[in-house]
Amino acid sequence: MSYYKIENLEQYFKHYNKSVREPRKFWNKIASENFTWYQECEKVMEFDMAEAKIEWFKDAKVNIVKNCLDRHLAKRGEKTAIIFEPNNPNEEAQHITYNDLYTRVSKMANVLREQGINKGDRVCIYLPMIPELAVSILACARIGAIHSVVFAGFSASAVATRINDCDCKMAITSDGGFRGEKTIDLKGIIDEALKSCPSVKTVLVAKRTNTPIVMKEGRDLWLQPLVDDASDNCVAEIMDAEDPLFILYTSGSTGKPKGMVHTTAGYMVYTAYTFKNVFNYEENDIFWCTADIGWITGHSYILYGPLLNGATTVIFEGVPSYPDFSRFWETIEKHKITQFYTAPTAIRALAKENLEYVQKYPLKSLKVIGSVGEPINEEAWHWYNDHVGGKRCPLVDTWWQTETGGIMISAIPFVTPTKPTYASLPLPGIQPVLMDEKRNEIEGNQVTGSLCIKFPWPGIARTIWGDHQRYKDTYFSAFPGKYFTGDGALRDEVGYYRITGRVDDVVIVSGHNLGTAPIEDAINEHPAVAESAIVGFPHDVKGNALYGFVILKESGENRDRENLIKEINQHVSDHIGPIAKLDKIQFVSGLPKTRSGKIMRRILRKIAEGDYSNFGDTSTLLNPEIIDEIKNGRL
Ligand code: PRX
Repeated sequence: MSYYKIENLEQYFKHYNKSVREPRKFWNKIASENFTWYQECEKVMEFDMAEAKIEWFKDAKVNIVKNCLDRHLAKRGEKTAIIFEPNNPNEEAQHITYNDLYTRVSKMANVLREQGINKGDRVCIYLPMIPELAVSILACARIGAIHSVVFAGFSASAVATRINDCDCKMAITSDGGFRGEKTIDLKGIIDEALKSCPSVKTVLVAKRTNTPIVMKEGRDLWLQPLVDDASDNCVAEIMDAEDPLFILYTSGSTGKPKGMVHTTAGYMVYTAYTFKNVFNYEENDIFWCTADIGWITGHSYILYGPLLNGATTVIFEGVPSYPDFSRFWETIEKHKITQFYTAPTAIRALAKENLEYVQKYPLKSLKVIGSVGEPINEEAWHWYNDHVGGKRCPLVDTWWQTETGGIMISAIPFVTPTKPTYASLPLPGIQPVLMDEKRNEIEGNQVTGSLCIKFPWPGIARTIWGDHQRYKDTYFSAFPGKYFTGDGALRDEVGYYRITGRVDDVVIVSGHNLGTAPIEDAINEHPAVAESAIVGFPHDVKGNALYGFVILKESGENRDRENLIKEINQHVSDHIGPIAKLDKIQFVSGLPKTRSGKIMRRILRKIAEGDYSNFGDTSTLLNPEIIDEIKNGRL
């Protein structure tokens, strides 16, 4: 019996039970039957949760790109691997076959080698959603270089922090990027970032927008001429299962972003397996995930998961509102998309528009629709289910994280019955538990608690780049012996999970994971600001928006408030990116603090939400009188 595909509910429970009773046997069978290895592993898995040390398929030898491309060529060489749908719908879409992609990746990999990139070197990729982004990522993986993709909406200073954290030797960017009506000056942003990044020796520049840019002598090279001259024969690097594949940064509840490190074999097995099952993938399907490849969703379900399965995957350069609000639906119709995977924030934004935008299109090609990135509220769930899925496509609400590598809790289409707003059941291999405040596991159903996972799975990130202690502290210390997700969850009467939201200082805004600390740091650098505190509050399109409470220095007291608000948001935009801008900024004379100087954020959260009913225990507050002032000034 193969474990790779779950056909029905009975089989789901069978596979699930096997994966818990004999996880090594379960995953080893999947790994050895469905991938190409230079050498199979000796030990399937070893772990020590106390030390946060997890290894899968150790000593196995493999190259993920050989599994994404080479092995498909005989059977699927002329099949489309990537459909590139440009920002402007009048620009022709590109269909890149597996043969073409193989050639492009091999050439690019040779360019990287010629430019001195070797196994283990870090390469920062700062590109818009164009084919070169996929090609660059796969080229790195082919030669064993570690890719660190930085979302092309991050500011120069955010890019610099990420480049310096892992000492990238090279950056790959483009002359610009199209986004709806706008053109983004990516090269200018990289130039600014690199002023403080001594490790970067080479910048490869792809041409996309024809924006005039400055090429720095001795550092910057146009990509295309190098690719044209490169050989299309590139021997893939033989990687150990546990060699790092990539670093991807995610926000933390304290200062610096965390460079999550994913390794080769476990990530490969897990993304391929989850893609196949969660999207009911079959050979001639056309899969579209609307995320940006700069986030984990794009890494796992635009690139690796689909290509490992020999699928056709869409890279969409544009935005859902350009040229109008029917772009998603028009594109589904145009490419006959079978699986459509997007975020609740996009659904909520589109649901606000005239229904005709979606009703114009029959969307009959769709088979499965998916949601990711934040809780999907009841209204958005039904709109998506009714108007996009036509009440006939299963809607999979997929819960997972940058750290988990792949989807963890989700319905399996045509197998698990769905329930609005519930991610539903864990996938095989995933053992979720809910914990109470006393660190005890909560047994039974109809309970809520902090969501932990009590056993390793192949896709889990192995460490934080350069800071294993932080990895241990962040994920394995709150509930010893378990991986703590940072989310709260509810388990209903039949054991279905519903994610209720973050229980730490991370706020999910429009599906983007934002730590409050780095935003506060950015605000506090404004010369007129003494201190600040950021919390999330509910927003009907973004899910959450940011509310800032700001204390001004004496020198700032007489400044015009509207200008200050603009300047503060500009600071946030410069330091992090426009996605982190605040919706509301309230100036206050103090913040509620405990005697030990800690800001009591739950009070600020309640005020931001407009819920004054129960502030909980305020007896440890040094300055309880401040609560009234803040309440009275609430925006
Ligand atoms: O809070 C959860 C929320 O997004 C967080 C992870 O964010 P990130 O690492 O950026 O990865 C997003 C894409 C996988 C989680 O801790 N989240 C993600 N998916 C869901 C979700 N919350 C509720 N329901 C989901 N389906």
